[in-house]
Amino acid sequence: MSVLLRSFPVFDPHFVMMRATVLLMVIVTGLIGYYVYVPIPNTVSEPWKLMLLDATFRGVQDMCHLAQQVGLGHHLKALNFVITMFEMLAPQSSETVEVSDTSFDGVQVRVFEPKKVDGELKRSIIYIHGGGWALGSARMRSYDHLCRKMAKDMNAVLVSIEYRLVPEVHFPEQLNDAYSATKYFLQPEVLSQYSVDPNRIAVSGDSAGGNLAAAVTQQLVVDSSIKFQLKLQALIYPVLQALDFNTPSYQQNMATPILYKHVMARFWLEYLNGDPSFVQAMLVNNHTASNLSQLTSVRAHLNWTNLLPQSLIKNYKPVIQVMGSPQVIKALPALLDPRAAPLIADKGILQLLPRAYILTCEHDILRDDGIMYAKRLEDAGIEVTLDHYEDGFHGAMIFALPPTNFDVGNRIMNNYINWLDKNL
Ligand SMILES: *[C@@H]1O[C@H](CO)[C@@H](O)[C@H](O)[C@H]1NC(C)=O
Ligand SMILES: *[C@@H]1O[C@H](CO)[C@@H](O)[C@H](O)[C@H]1NC(C)=O
Ligand SMILES: *[C@@H]1O[C@H](CO)[C@@H](O)[C@H](O)[C@H]1NC(C)=O
Repeated sequence: MSVLLRSFPVFDPHFVMMRATVLLMVIVTGLIGYYVYVPIPNTVSEPWKLMLLDATFRGVQDMCHLAQQVGLGHHLKALNFVITMFEMLAPQSSETVEVSDTSFDGVQVRVFEPKKVDGELKRSIIYIHGGGWALGSARMRSYDHLCRKMAKDMNAVLVSIEYRLVPEVHFPEQLNDAYSATKYFLQPEVLSQYSVDPNRIAVSGDSAGGNLAAAVTQQLVVDSSIKFQLKLQALIYPVLQALDFNTPSYQQNMATPILYKHVMARFWLEYLNGDPSFVQAMLVNNHTASNLSQLTSVRAHLNWTNLLPQSLIKNYKPVIQVMGSPQVIKALPALLDPRAAPLIADKGILQLLPRAYILTCEHDILRDDGIMYAKRLEDAGIEVTLDHYEDGFHGAMIFALPPTNFDVGNRIMNNYINWLDKNL
């Protein structure tokens, strides 16, 4: 190309323009290539598609950080605005499923009801959407579609909770919203109003929604005012702890799209309303250094050298600091609160929980959160189905729909719904 360019006379204004255009194109292409290209393990489902999805997501995230820097408001609020702008659906009933937005004890919910048949009691699933406690909505196309499909395929009543998000609220408000709505729904007169069988109700959620679903389940079993307990909990690639950012899956997938390790740590800090400058300390486990006595009682609950099989531990070594940064745990006692980190709950609570389905993906920093929880539940005598996807990545299920159409997302969704259909 340079040979060709040099054959033009340099003083020709036309040529100067052309050269500038070519140069600009080279720079833009380079930048796009640099931006789009991330190393992706070849065992992940449809790697090129994932790379493009990831670049789009990162591009929007970067623009939102920029918006925050120039004073246009909180970056997560901007991000949620962009995500939901194209995605929000009004409640649209179909021939088979009636959809309505209402509120349960002051919390917004979207309810999907299959056609009523006199005298028939239906099964029900309470669904809590994901998005790092800051993003997403029950009204989003992907979650609307998921719940609609479950309602139709299972002839079940779906309650999708529209809990409040960061930055409007922080821990424990997201959980409180999810809990209030769930508790309201579990009242005998409300269940009867929706023709729901009180013995066949599950709670479920993905990612941060899986975190909330797990916490709701733990809270319900010790709430003496609850008349009907859940039959099942189903957690899709849940986030369950913020004490070890160096589990084998965190180490293996720290730079795997679409959920990066540093992004997850920031979501945690936003959820717990912590100082953003703590993030570096947390990434190297300085917040859980071995000389911090507050952690003594929970260490065993996330000791992955015990809780994970050797096939996942491989050659990964625990990252344990000796002194670390004691100010983090001091400022954020919620890090040690099982309502934020259900993985660290005592065995006494785990023993009371309903049967569980836990879905994990190999290419996901949160894989080991889910697998350790499955192990702890099993050790507590709870029946657990662990459904693992070797080619799965974090968030795959919500990318099952067009235009992303991820094959692994569709498999996840179908297997998850089948499991619920068989066991609820
Ligand atoms: C985790 O468990 C292993 C094996 O029982 C033990 O040697 C190790 O000290 C434990 N680590 C922590 C941090 O408790
Ligand atoms: C841990 O180490 C730091 C730094 O030396 C010290 O300030 C702190 O008191 C130690 N904490 C405990 C519980 O020993
Ligand atoms: C982690 O803690 C050690 C002290 O144990 C300190 O030297 C180091 O700078 C800390 N790293 C970060 C990123 O906070």
